[in-house]
Amino acid sequence: MQRALAYGFLRHFLLKKKLGSLSFRPTAAMSTLLINQPKYAWLKELGLSEDNDGVYNGTWGGKGEVVTSYCPANNEPIARVRQATMAEYEETVHKAQEAWKVWADIPAPKRGEIVRQIGEALRKKIKVLGSLVSLEMGKIYVEGVGEVQEYVDVCDYAVGLSRMIGGPVLPSERPGHALIEQWNPVGLVGIITAFNFPVAVYGWNNAIALICGNVCLWKGAPTTPLTSVAVTKIVAEVLEQNNLPGAICSMTCGGADIGSALAKDERVDLVSFTGSTHVGKQVALMVQERFGRQLLELGGNNAIIVFEDADLNLVVPSALFASVGTAGQRCTTTRRLMLHESVHDAVVERLVKAYKQVRMGDPWDPSTLYGPLHTKQAVEQYLAAVQQAKQQGGTLACGGKVIDRPGNYVEPTIFTGLAHDAPIVHTETFVPILYVIKFKTEEEAFSWNNEVKQGLSSSIFTKDMGRVFRWLGPKGSDCGIVNVNIPTSGAEIGGAFGGEKHTGGGRESGSDSWKQYMRRSTCTINYSKDLPLAQGIKFE
Ligand code: UN1
Repeated sequence: MQRALAYGFLRHFLLKKKLGSLSFRPTAAMSTLLINQPKYAWLKELGLSEDNDGVYNGTWGGKGEVVTSYCPANNEPIARVRQATMAEYEETVHKAQEAWKVWADIPAPKRGEIVRQIGEALRKKIKVLGSLVSLEMGKIYVEGVGEVQEYVDVCDYAVGLSRMIGGPVLPSERPGHALIEQWNPVGLVGIITAFNFPVAVYGWNNAIALICGNVCLWKGAPTTPLTSVAVTKIVAEVLEQNNLPGAICSMTCGGADIGSALAKDERVDLVSFTGSTHVGKQVALMVQERFGRQLLELGGNNAIIVFEDADLNLVVPSALFASVGTAGQRCTTTRRLMLHESVHDAVVERLVKAYKQVRMGDPWDPSTLYGPLHTKQAVEQYLAAVQQAKQQGGTLACGGKVIDRPGNYVEPTIFTGLAHDAPIVHTETFVPILYVIKFKTEEEAFSWNNEVKQGLSSSIFTKDMGRVFRWLGPKGSDCGIVNVNIPTSGAEIGGAFGGEKHTGGGRESGSDSWKQYMRRSTCTINYSKDLPLAQGIKFE
């Protein structure tokens, strides 16, 4: 153990010297890592140690920059990860392409069996992996476990799909001809995920891409590298136990350098990017530049609209969960609450009361409902948004301050009185600030829902059936997720997940999202002895 430690440290030191860009870290720093404290010994059950390899392609590596992962609840270092160098990225893409040759030949239901085993392996580690998500991302424990559950669920879903995907046999206009649609895997899927769902979003892409016959190369967020490593260890063990190349599920931890390399790389057949609209646009342009395929799931500026006939007993907990849950850091978080003028004051009063009762604390404490923001920068963004909302005419109904305790805690915040089109209301700030807007008519509420750049999620609360169907119809919500009497967040895996406009247009997870991971061939087969041409053309 001592020797391994000494060796690890020596290697770490030599690498840093080689890189020349990073400062020498004293031995004392190692003992301050949370992973070394008995309280966090469970991290070792995930195969994590002080210094972790951030590259997997059948073998583990990581010769690039060393990143330290910090716990958002106290800003203490958890452990370190060695990211990928460009040379390691190259090697990994090569190995993933080689692995594809094996994987693509395996029948889809057999690929489904491997995905089933991945789901089983995740089930066994669900609590400990959920705890890591809570420690590293900062979301509360039940939500950490919940997103591992999403990965498990999507594995189950993908196992079923592995016996169902396929195209139609279409009627040919020519005698003795068959017209069929054949779906093939695209090849190598690059998956870039965000800090806020460090397990589930990879899971959606990974499980579906795998049963379709693709291999995956994952780059998780640079601030949640331990979760990427822990998930990859679980998946890698399943592949290795089945004597399959580990590079089927490769990982290269890194920052913008690895992200850009993936986006620009012609060998990456599909780039699935989940993250901010700002970065997503850069990725999209790089991928489009080479006519590559992309699947974008970007920002949202999601609204709940509450009509005069709404059941307020559903509205208040829904708005609370969707705006305060995950400390406002879901792409599906409710950021705008539009209240009919007849219920405005009553809802604001009840909501403010509910906000004040939210139990704040360490995210891994089972009684906590509200944890920290992920980074210190997010706290700065929160303060800037509070300032702007005030300048633009908003009235603070509750919250608005940074909380005086270790970690990145801010008060969940409600503003009233802002114009529906105030610039701050049209901005997605990834923090728990809710803007309450008063409206008079259905028409204006629907149009305000749609006037923002993003188009991810939306909800109305009403009992009026006519209104429900207008909301679902062509003049209703323009979002990818259109709900009635439930919050904007917390979508199930069985539906296609994603949205329109600046949300990027991609769909991950359920329904027919699998098509995004495959290419379609229209095949016409002549089994007759004649050569009739379509459209009755004679070429004789
Ligand atoms: C995200 O925030 O990127 O619907 C995904 C939800 C979750 C997924 C959110 N199932 O809120």
